Amino acid sequence: MTKSLDGVLIKKANQKETFTTEHIEELLLCTDPNDGYLYFMKNYFYIQHPVKGKILFEPYEYQVKLLKSYNDHRFNINMLPRQSGKTTCAAGYLLWYAMFNPDQTILVAAHKYTGAQEIMQRIRYAYELCPNHIRAGVVNYNKGTIEFENGSRIVSQTTTGNTGRGMSISLLYCDEFAFVPPNIAEEFWTSISPTLATGGKAIITSTPNSDEDTFATIWKQSQQKFDEYGNEQDVGSNGFFGYISHWNEHPDRDDEWMRVEIGRIGEERFRREYGCEFLVYDETLINSLKLAEMTGITPIMNMGQTRWYKKPSPEYNYVVALDPSMGTGGDNAAIQVIEIPTYIQVAEWQHNITAIPGQVRILKDICQYIADICKTGGSNVYWSVENNNIGEAALLVINDFGEENIPGLFISEPIRKGHVRKFRKGFNTTHSSKITACARLKTMIENNHLTINSKPLISELKNFIATGSSFKAKPGSNDDLVSAIILSLRVISVMKDWDPNVYKTFNQIQAEEDYEPPMPIFVTSYF
Ligand SMILES: Nc1ncnc2c1ncn2[C@@H]1O[C@H](COP(=O)(O)OP(=O)(O)OP(=O)(O)O)[C@@H](O)[C@H]1O
Ligand SMILES: [Mg+2]
Repeated sequence: MTKSLDGVLIKKANQKETFTTEHIEELLLCTDPNDGYLYFMKNYFYIQHPVKGKILFEPYEYQVKLLKSYNDHRFNINMLPRQSGKTTCAAGYLLWYAMFNPDQTILVAAHKYTGAQEIMQRIRYAYELCPNHIRAGVVNYNKGTIEFENGSRIVSQTTTGNTGRGMSISLLYCDEFAFVPPNIAEEFWTSISPTLATGGKAIITSTPNSDEDTFATIWKQSQQKFDEYGNEQDVGSNGFFGYISHWNEHPDRDDEWMRVEIGRIGEERFRREYGCEFLVYDETLINSLKLAEMTGITPIMNMGQTRWYKKPSPEYNYVVALDPSMGTGGDNAAIQVIEIPTYIQVAEWQHNITAIPGQVRILKDICQYIADICKTGGSNVYWSVENNNIGEAALLVINDFGEENIPGLFISEPIRKGHVRKFRKGFNTTHSSKITACARLKTMIENNHLTINSKPLISELKNFIATGSSFKAKPGSNDDLVSAIILSLRVISVMKDWDPNVYKTFNQIQAEEDYEPPMPIFVTSYF
């Protein structure tokens, strides 16, 4: 054995060696491409146990299955609880893979520098304790790279958009992939995918984070296992084999442990970190447990770009709210339709390149459709628009169009006492009116008083988070559908003052809902 300059125990490359028969037998067992990795890990892979110190790795049952999936499938994605030995298993498998497969380039990508170092540190720990007759000699042995005499090397890098670029990778290992910032993960995945397509293997491991990031997308596709004929495949539509293990598969974790852990970190975090459920990490307006339950339905009908989830009926009233946009390709304009007094979302429209006159026309078409199908002449339709900024242009268009040409009643917010603003039709959104409407949306959804049917709206709600003293979409996400639904709730709250039916139901909802203040700091400007 040789001691390298920095005091590390390694084996020099390309030395003349003498093996006993027993050594050769052992070496052959480790070389077996089918289960050599398991023999190697059970007999020669040492780990550091937090309490017991140095121990020989004895895999738990779920770890045996995990390692088998690494070996049997080209593309792997795993979702495992915190502290379940993800990094340990990967370190052992990568070390075996490098030493027993010649000329492989193994890239370890971790979401932080320390994460990448941790995996390398475990690989080095095991390598240094491995007997000479089993391990391969090293040509290069430093913090970020280990190069073996058989031509294989393990390289570790922090995950960025450029990680692995220009390398020809035989095995890619991504640790804690769900925690790589979304834009970096996306860029990284786009740049690395072609490299894998030429024959490389991939292992992606993580505890879940948001349910819409790259990790979640790859995971979800790995679970789409039915082919076009309805036969179940081993791998998903993206070629990935998905493996999940649950916290109670760990031998040291029982119900008592769960109770203590929930007490320590709360149910929500427990479900995400140990139950491996995709719950949203940021502080969303709507409680993330509720968001995880919301699935939405497929529209019963598409009328142009308007999605209808329920057929209108004359026994109900309908609120149609338009949140306009410039229609030049930036933000979406959106319309929401809510049935009253059932408070069910019945239709939705959204588009980013329809100019304001077109937006008003869609509003009119929706109102007309409800009026026609219900044969009410529009007496059960209540519509409105947001009148801030771009909304002013929408008011002009409505004026030119003729308000009377849109079936139903145009609802405006009442002028407040002492409020000097000139009366404008529609609804003006201020910081405080937005916060109040957000609070209402939250309590109505969480108490099942408002039924959201649209999948795109649910997706927006998952990215609608607390920022400063208000709520808005996460960077890179939209909140136009949410804004339109908030506007429709404001319309309903005005209607309650003169429609007895709305008054009764809306007030009843309010009374039932314990108005706990869920919101960020409420800054009152001038009311
Ligand atoms: N089969 C095993 N037997 C005993 N100890 C184990 C076993 N597998 C892992 N460990 C120990 O459990 C601890 C957690 O392992 P590891 O860090 O690999 O888990 P992880 O899932 O990557 O954790 P994290 O979620 O924090 O990244 C380590 O101290 C490791 O040595
Ligand atoms: Mg880890």
